[in-house]
Amino acid sequence: MQRLRNFLQQHCSDAGLVEVIEQVATISKDIAHLIQLGDLAGILGSAGQENVQGENQKKLDVIANDLLKDGLAALPAVKGVASEEETLPVGCNPEGRFLVLFDPLDGSSNIDINVTVGTIFSILAAPAELDGGDERAYLQPGKQQLAAGYVLYGPSTLLVLTTGNGVFSFTLDSRVGEYVLQRENIRVDTKTAEFAINMSNQRFWKPAMQSYVADLLQGEEGPLGKRYNMRWVASMVAEIHRILTRGGIFMYPWDSREPKKPGKLRLMYEANPMTLLMEQAGGRGSTATEAILNVQPQGIHDRVSVVIGSAEEVATVERYHAL
Ligand code: AHG
Ligand code: MN
Ligand code: MN
Repeated sequence: MQRLRNFLQQHCSDAGLVEVIEQVATISKDIAHLIQLGDLAGILGSAGQENVQGENQKKLDVIANDLLKDGLAALPAVKGVASEEETLPVGCNPEGRFLVLFDPLDGSSNIDINVTVGTIFSILAAPAELDGGDERAYLQPGKQQLAAGYVLYGPSTLLVLTTGNGVFSFTLDSRVGEYVLQRENIRVDTKTAEFAINMSNQRFWKPAMQSYVADLLQGEEGPLGKRYNMRWVASMVAEIHRILTRGGIFMYPWDSREPKKPGKLRLMYEANPMTLLMEQAGGRGSTATEAILNVQPQGIHDRVSVVIGSAEEVATVERYHAL
């Protein structure tokens, strides 16, 4: 039974980076504890305000955001943080070497119905010449991430992590309050017949996405020649975790509900860290026309079309978009 701290000391030579990852893990235990208490901790329901993206914030969105922001700002190694729930990046310690970006609570529409939610994080090197409160410091493509991971608050609490050398998962042993190694060098099947997409948006997708999904729904008789199964949890963390466990493809493509937005999901807090994990496990992440990790962000809250999962299925979606 290997504890997270021992694992990090053996697998990551940068003591500052280890400290940042351990701090995210420590804060996630507090978030997990609040989620387990649920209504008893007064965390359910709306906060009665909107975030910068115009989304209604839940109480737990705000609580998780504040825990991460304050906990990370206290570390000398952290120069700044950026969050889905913060309008502007927050400058922390001028001498810090790292920037931490996070979606403090992913799948927040699930919190009130007691279904899986998560926390997603991404760590970048802080440019020496820019302040941690300066948005330009964060505008690095996803391939420059030093580490990425998520915490899944489900029947068990799991931490899934990459520092650029494979993907590892840890289970929170709540009896001792420690994350312990569960799976090493996770690999994703290259093929799959399980897809995840919010089908209620079908009529708003681009023709290429409509025709891919129409073809896969035809099963063995259709051009893709296999019978697909479908799942939709509405928590990206839960979908990506399922795919890292048994393969699959997750899509939140561009749609015409709000034509000016290039997608619903956020490049820097959701798409980039999940793609780094998936690629480190042998899968892929694409916008359907471009590798997600190559997308140059223009702003910290940029959104992007997302197709992530088993490599061959992602390539199939790209083929439909190249026609
Ligand atoms: P968040 O709770 O951080 O806003 O993210 C929710 C995201 C993602 O986790 C999920 O895949 C998707 O939004 C669900 O969207 P729908 O409600 O449109 O199904
Ligand atoms: Mn999210
Ligand atoms: Mn969120």
